[in-house]
Amino acid sequence: MKIGIDKIGFAFPEFVLDLADLAAARNVDPNKFKVGLLQSEMAIAPVTQDIVTLGAQAAASILTEEDKQAIDMVIVGTESSVDQSKAAAVVIHSLLGIQPFARSIEMKEACYGATAGLSLAKTHIAQNPDSKVLVIASDIAKYGIASGGEPTQGAGAVAMLVTADPSILVLNSDNVCQTRDIYDFWRPNDDKYPRVDGKYSTEQYTDCLTTTFDYYKKKTGKDLEDFAAMCLHIPFPKQGLKGLRAIAANEDTLTRLTDRFYEAIIYNQVIGNIYTGSIFLSFLSLLENSQALTAGDEILFYSYGSGAVCEIFSGSLVEGYQASLQEKRMADLNQRTKVSVEEYEKIFFEEIVLDEAGNSIDLNSDESPYALEKVVEFKRIYHS
Ligand code: HMG
Repeated sequence: MKIGIDKIGFAFPEFVLDLADLAAARNVDPNKFKVGLLQSEMAIAPVTQDIVTLGAQAAASILTEEDKQAIDMVIVGTESSVDQSKAAAVVIHSLLGIQPFARSIEMKEACYGATAGLSLAKTHIAQNPDSKVLVIASDIAKYGIASGGEPTQGAGAVAMLVTADPSILVLNSDNVCQTRDIYDFWRPNDDKYPRVDGKYSTEQYTDCLTTTFDYYKKKTGKDLEDFAAMCLHIPFPKQGLKGLRAIAANEDTLTRLTDRFYEAIIYNQVIGNIYTGSIFLSFLSLLENSQALTAGDEILFYSYGSGAVCEIFSGSLVEGYQASLQEKRMADLNQRTKVSVEEYEKIFFEEIVLDEAGNSIDLNSDESPYALEKVVEFKRIYHS
């Protein structure tokens, strides 16, 4: 049975910061971000937007009423959860009006969570071919003001509908994973921002890729030459480019895949790191910006989550996949509201103030289709 991605949607918050402005404010050469990291803008989410609202918005952009009746599992991959117990998937299930007899869960392993969700979805569809699974990758990446990771922050969500006989990508069964118990990037329960061993994390990203790809080649007999494009986890685009260079043995293949890589980072360059959704945003960018792909092309994926777990897997583009995509996404991204560095620091790092009874005080109203409206007795109340 062919199982894979039938639909893919993306949601981003309203505000954007130009990294040239951030560089000026931090007294850094703007080319460090633009050329050194290949990053030009970052998405800024206000306090009324979180992984629930972004995830719901991404899913709402692709689902029909028929889909909502067929979905019997909702999986949210995230590492910026709003509750230690209640899964964001439960709230999103409700906001979207999905039929009640569904399983709704949250999955975590840093930037790898949604990839694990995709595998679980595939297994579920193999056993229940008529059902559909909604997999959402939703995150807000905050490293803190003037931190090393500051120019790589971002916010957004990617939603994927996984079904039998999908319209976009058939997932192959060639997955290879690696687990390594390391502290390259982690966030203890009481910390607001992650702790990062920046240089070490970049080395681990690449070493996990090279060693897992060696194992993948041995196990499957495939090599980079077999693929039309490669999508990688993109903490910032230069990291992905370095990864691709680290595994390409043949110059012609590297040139061809580098051309595809630049098409696959167009959205990431203006959004920033959205953690577990980054690799899927890169896939969407590739699909919507490349003229070089055709049905039947094989795409290779490298998912990496700090801590660390990584996975290499692949998929095959379906005939007519272009019909499921959007043409004007870049125009929509260009419509975002630009903020100054001062405004960014105020908006991105604002916190909800609660009274003693757990009710929010002076929370701004947000007219977005999905937004946090208030907190009542410590319960987050959303509008849709
Ligand atoms: P840094 O140490 O400030 O930057 O932060 P740098 O000095 O390494 O410079 C970065 C690049 O800019 C270098 O390029 C410089 O040469 C270049 P490279 O040599 O690496 O190709 N550069 C310039 N280029 C042009 N003109 C200039 C200029 N100046 C410098 N004037 C660091 C870099 C990655 C450490 C930092 O951004 C950071 O800590 N980021 C967060 C951690 C991270 O993203 N790690 C990536 C791997 S781990 C991962 O992917 C998982 C993650 O997504 C989390 C999860 O799984 O949940 C992060």
